[in-house]
Amino acid sequence: MSADYQVHGTVAVITLNNPPVNGLGLETRAAAVQGMRRALADDAVNAIVITGAGKAFSGGADIREFNSPKALAEPSLASLIRTVEDSTKPVVAAIHTVAMGGGLELALGCNYRVAMPGAQIALPEVKLGLLPGAGGTQRLPRVLGLEAALNMVVSGAPVLSEKLAGTALFDAVFGAEDNLLEQALAFAEKVADVRPLPKVRDRKVDYPNHEAFLQFSRNTVKAMSGPFPAPLECVETVAASVTKKFDDGLAFERERFIALMQTNESKALRHAFFSERMTSKVPDLPADTPVRTIAKAAVIGAGTMGGGIAMNFANAGIPVTILEMKPEALEKGLATIRKNYENTLKKGKLTQQKFDQRVALITGSLDYAEIADADIVVEAVFEDMGVKEAVFKKLDEVMKPGAILASNTSTLDVDKIAAFTSRPQDVIGTHFFSPANVMKLLEIVRGAKTGKDVLATALALSKKLKKTGVVSGVCDGFIGNRMIEQYSRQAGFLLEEGCLPEQVDKAMEKFGFAMGPFRMGDLAGNDIGWYIRKRRYVESPEITYSKTADLLCEMGRFGQKTGGGWYDYKAGDRKAYPNEEVNAMIVKHSADLGIERRKISDQEIVERLVYALVNEGAHILEEGIALRASDIDMVYLTGYGFPLHRGGPMFYADTVGLPNVLGAMERMARGRHGDAWKPAPLLVKLAAEGKGFNG
Ligand code: 3HC
Ligand code: NAI
Repeated sequence: MSADYQVHGTVAVITLNNPPVNGLGLETRAAAVQGMRRALADDAVNAIVITGAGKAFSGGADIREFNSPKALAEPSLASLIRTVEDSTKPVVAAIHTVAMGGGLELALGCNYRVAMPGAQIALPEVKLGLLPGAGGTQRLPRVLGLEAALNMVVSGAPVLSEKLAGTALFDAVFGAEDNLLEQALAFAEKVADVRPLPKVRDRKVDYPNHEAFLQFSRNTVKAMSGPFPAPLECVETVAASVTKKFDDGLAFERERFIALMQTNESKALRHAFFSERMTSKVPDLPADTPVRTIAKAAVIGAGTMGGGIAMNFANAGIPVTILEMKPEALEKGLATIRKNYENTLKKGKLTQQKFDQRVALITGSLDYAEIADADIVVEAVFEDMGVKEAVFKKLDEVMKPGAILASNTSTLDVDKIAAFTSRPQDVIGTHFFSPANVMKLLEIVRGAKTGKDVLATALALSKKLKKTGVVSGVCDGFIGNRMIEQYSRQAGFLLEEGCLPEQVDKAMEKFGFAMGPFRMGDLAGNDIGWYIRKRRYVESPEITYSKTADLLCEMGRFGQKTGGGWYDYKAGDRKAYPNEEVNAMIVKHSADLGIERRKISDQEIVERLVYALVNEGAHILEEGIALRASDIDMVYLTGYGFPLHRGGPMFYADTVGLPNVLGAMERMARGRHGDAWKPAPLLVKLAAEGKGFNG
C-alpha cells in the first residue's frame, strides 16, 4: 500500500505511505485518488484529512520515477491535486516534518492546512534544475504574496512551519507537544459544515507595480544562475501568477516544467542528488554493520593538511589533539588554525561562542602517550613511506585497542602502511582534500584487510564532518588523483602541440570547470606533480609526459606560493597574468622537439582533457577501485571543481554518448602521443551494447 485509508468517526484519513519520504510516485498518487473517491462516496464521511506516514508529510514528486514514463502517467500529480481541489467535502492537509515540492503543492490544493512546528516547508525543485510543476508557482503567491513566494521558489530553501504561522498558508500551527492526528481530526470536524469551501486558486495576488519588481528579479536571478536555466524560468512562472488567469498560469507552468525535465542541466542535478546518497551504500556492508564510537580524535602532523583535518573534528564538536615532532612546528600549526577561525569570525560566519568552543576543542602535544586513548587518529605527516612506517609502528604500540588508525596519504599504498601494524583491520585511508576544512570530498580508502566496522565508521564519520565520503580501493592516486594525472598529461601535450596555458584554462573554464589545469597547478603547487613525475621516471619509464612542467619547475616557478608559476600573480590579487618568459619556454620546447605548433580548437582541448578523465575512470570502474560510476562523478563534483551542470565526467560521457566518446578517442589515437588513447575495455563494451556508465 502506498497510501492508507481509515475513517475516524465522520472524518476520512488518507495517509501517504511510500517510504522513505512519501514521494508521490504513481502508486501513491493512484492510492490517494482512490482514497478521495472512497471518502466522497461515503455518506458517513463529512471531511477528509491527508497526512503522511513516518518521516514526512511528503518530500514531493518521486524523483526516482523521473526518467521513466511513470512520472507523467495518470493519475498525474496535477490530477490528484485537481481531485482534491474539486472535492465537495473539506480536505485538510495535516503536515509534519517535511512538506516539499509536490508535497507542498498537494497541501496547497487542500481547503485547509494545519502543521506541526519544525516542519520544513519548501519548493526545492530549482535545486534539481526544475520548477514546481504541480501548481506551486501559481498557488504559493496566492497565500504568501508575490515576493515571499518568489524567494522560496527561486532559492528552493526550506522555511520552518512556525515562521509561516499567521500567513494564509496555514490555518493552524500546533504546539510541539500536540498530537497532529488528534488536532487535525478536531479541526476537520470543526470546519466540516463550512461553505463555500475556501480554495487557494480563488485568491488574488496583489502586488502594486509588480512589473518593476519582476524585472528587478529577472535581472538579479539571471546574474546569479550561471549555466542553469531553471532559476529564471522560476521567475517567469511565478510572474504568471500575477499576469495570467489561474488556469492559463497552470498550463504555462506545466509546459515549462516538462521542458526543464528534459534538459541536461536538470538530469545532471538529479544525478548528483542520488549519487550523493549512493556513496554511503557499500554492497557488502549491510545497514546494521556495527560502528565504533568516535568521541575523541587525534591528528599526527600540524602541517597544511593536519591543521585543516583537526578543524573538521572541532567543527563537529569532537575534541582533537594534534601531535608534532617539534614545539615550533606545533606552535606554527596551532597559530594557523587560530588565524583561520579568526578570519571566519571577522567575516561574521562564526559566532564568538562557536569560535571559543572550537578553539577550545583543539589541543597540541609532542607526546604520543597523550593521544593513546583517542578513538581515531589521522596521520598527516610527510608523504614518505619511511616516515609513515615510523609513525604507524609507534601508533600500533601506543594506541588503545579498537582505535582506528587512518592515513591521509594521497598516493602511498594503504595495505603496506597497514602491514606496519599488528592490527591491519583497524587501518584505513582517509584522504582529505586541500583546504581540508573547506573541501567536501573525503576519499575513504579501503585496504585489503580493513574491518567492515572500520569502513562503516569512516562513512558515518564523513557525514558527521559534513563531507561526501566516497569509498576507493587501493591504487596509486586512488580515484581522483589517478584520473587527474591523465588529465594533466594531456594538458602538457597540448602545450607542446600549440596551446598556451591561458587558452587551455579559458577553454576548460568555459566548459564550466572552476579553474583550468594550469591555474589549478599554480594554486596547488607545481612542485607536487614534479616530485611525483620524478618518481615515475624511475618506476614507470614507459609513461610519457611533456617536459614543459619540469622546465617550469626548473625555473623555480612552483606557483602562487613562489609568486609565480604558469602565470604571474600580484599581491592581494588572485588574477593570473600570462608570463612572457614561460610562454617563450613553451614555444621553444616545441621547436626543440621539432614540433610544428598548430592552432588547436577549444573543442579539442575539452575533449582531450575530459575524455582522459573518462577513460581512466572506466579503468578504475572495471578494476573495482570505484564501486560505481556515480561515485567517480561525486569525486569530481566535490573535489575537483568539475561543472555541476554536467554531472561529473562519467555522466557527461553518457550524455555525449559512449560511441561518440569512443569515436573522438580513436581520432585522437591517430595524433601525437596516440598511445595514451587506448580505450578502456569497459568503455568499448558499454558503447557496443548501447549502454552508459550509469546504466
Ligand atoms: N523522491 C524519491 N526519493 C526521495 C525524495 C523524493 N522526492 N526525496 C528524498 N528521497 C530519498 C533519498 O534518495 C534517500 O533515499 P535512500 O535512503 O535510499 O538513499 C531518502 O529519501 C532520504 O533522503 P535524505 O538522505 O536526503 O534524508 P533527509 O532526512 O536528510 O532529507 C528530504 C529528507 C528533506 C526530503 C531530502 O531528501 C530532500 O530535500 N529531498 C528532495 C526533495 C525535493 O527535491 N522535492 C521536489 C521533488 S520534484 C517535485 O516535487 C516536482 C513537482 O513540483 C511536480
Ligand atoms: P606538510 O609538510 O604541510 O605537513 C606535514 C607535517 O607533518 C609537518 O608539520 C611536519 O612537521 C609533520 N611531521 C613530519 N613527520 C612527523 C612525525 N614523525 N611525527 C609528527 N609530525 C610529523 O604536509 P601536508 O601537505 O600537510 O601533507 C601531509 C599528508 O597529507 C601527506 O601524506 C600528503 O600526501 C597528504 N595530502 C596532502 C595534500 C595537500 O594538498 N597538501 C592533499 C591531500 C593529502
